[in-house]
Amino acid sequence: MAEVPVPECLLKPLYVPRKLLMGPGPSNASPRILAAGALPLLGHLHPEFIAIMDEVKKGIQYAFQTKNEVTLAVSGTGHAAMETAACNLIEPKDVVLSVCTGIWGERFADMAERQGAKVVKITKEQGQVFSNQELEQALRRIQPTVMFVTHGESSSATCQPVNDLGILCHKYGCILIVDCVASLGAVPMYMDKWGIDVLYTGAQKVLSVSPGASPISFSERAWKKTQSRTKRVTSFYFDMTGLANYWGCDGQPRKYHHTGPISSIYGLREGLATLAEEGLEQSWKRHAQCADMLYRGIEEMNLRFLVENKEFRLPTVTAVLVPAGVQWKNVSNYVMEKYRVELAGGLGLSAGKVWRIGLMGYNATPDNIRLLLRALREGITTEQTRIPSRL
Ligand SMILES: Cc1ncc(COP(=O)(O)O)c(C=O)c1O
Repeated sequence: MAEVPVPECLLKPLYVPRKLLMGPGPSNASPRILAAGALPLLGHLHPEFIAIMDEVKKGIQYAFQTKNEVTLAVSGTGHAAMETAACNLIEPKDVVLSVCTGIWGERFADMAERQGAKVVKITKEQGQVFSNQELEQALRRIQPTVMFVTHGESSSATCQPVNDLGILCHKYGCILIVDCVASLGAVPMYMDKWGIDVLYTGAQKVLSVSPGASPISFSERAWKKTQSRTKRVTSFYFDMTGLANYWGCDGQPRKYHHTGPISSIYGLREGLATLAEEGLEQSWKRHAQCADMLYRGIEEMNLRFLVENKEFRLPTVTAVLVPAGVQWKNVSNYVMEKYRVELAGGLGLSAGKVWRIGLMGYNATPDNIRLLLRALREGITTEQTRIPSRL
């Protein structure tokens, strides 16, 4: 006889409302991607599933613009890929330079500290990015063995240029890890050409896939560092040696490492296929055009941006400063209740100061932008979202 009774809530049908997800992620999945999630399960080592994994690997190589053999999707969300980078590349003897343009540099510094490394952070004022000269000065001064940079900073809505940054790091004997969770597919990314050693992303942003499997790739240099560790990788689950075998990257017969998230891999395959069909160049162009359309609409409302210099704005996430007298949360609630549109608040230092508007993958369309602008305009002009003035 069961001692804990049947939960009543589970006897009701599952209810999921329809919402337009125009925040910093997840974005809405296309019908094609949702349909992939309903396909029958396969065994995680069945030949048909392995063939799909191989297609995913090719899709990641295309999206990252890399020929790296060690390219796969880690089971888990973007944080899982981040942990994979940290626990494979960092040992207590390492000196890690974490470049902070928002919360993700802080988050990586936290992960690197947990690996026992000496961690040095350099931080930019919100809404700004580092120049390659500034980064070179830091490399010279700190002499790190690993440097971490966030390409698309979703908390501050900046896009940190990483062109040729890997080549610069190699000059100083340093490995470069880049987070492109919020930017991949929307902004040009050339892993091999720019000398990036570890690149990772998430599924739920421009790829518009349900979070659950996160692409990552290791350069030969990163792989060598991993293979010549003095200490074992602290995590079994995220140890790239085991993962690379499961993903067929080491030329050895594949062995069971863990049960791959089968349906997430189907979704990722379809997200990557959608990107391949559109083509990277067209996807980059579409995101830039959509961002421009959004910027014009925001300017017409006389609102201001957290990132003043347009050159350093991230097209996938736009941070709009909340005008005086307006309660940001009331506006977000209004937009959600009336239009079923997500308008996110800030994160980290930007919390309470901005709204973050996402334009990602399937959601980056002129129609969605028009709807969002209309909802936002209404939201900030309606009396109910104002901060009551104290008399
Ligand atoms: C730049 C960046 N890195 C990492 C992450 C973490 O990804 P996840 O929430 O999928 O674990 C996010 C999530 O928003 C992100 O925007």
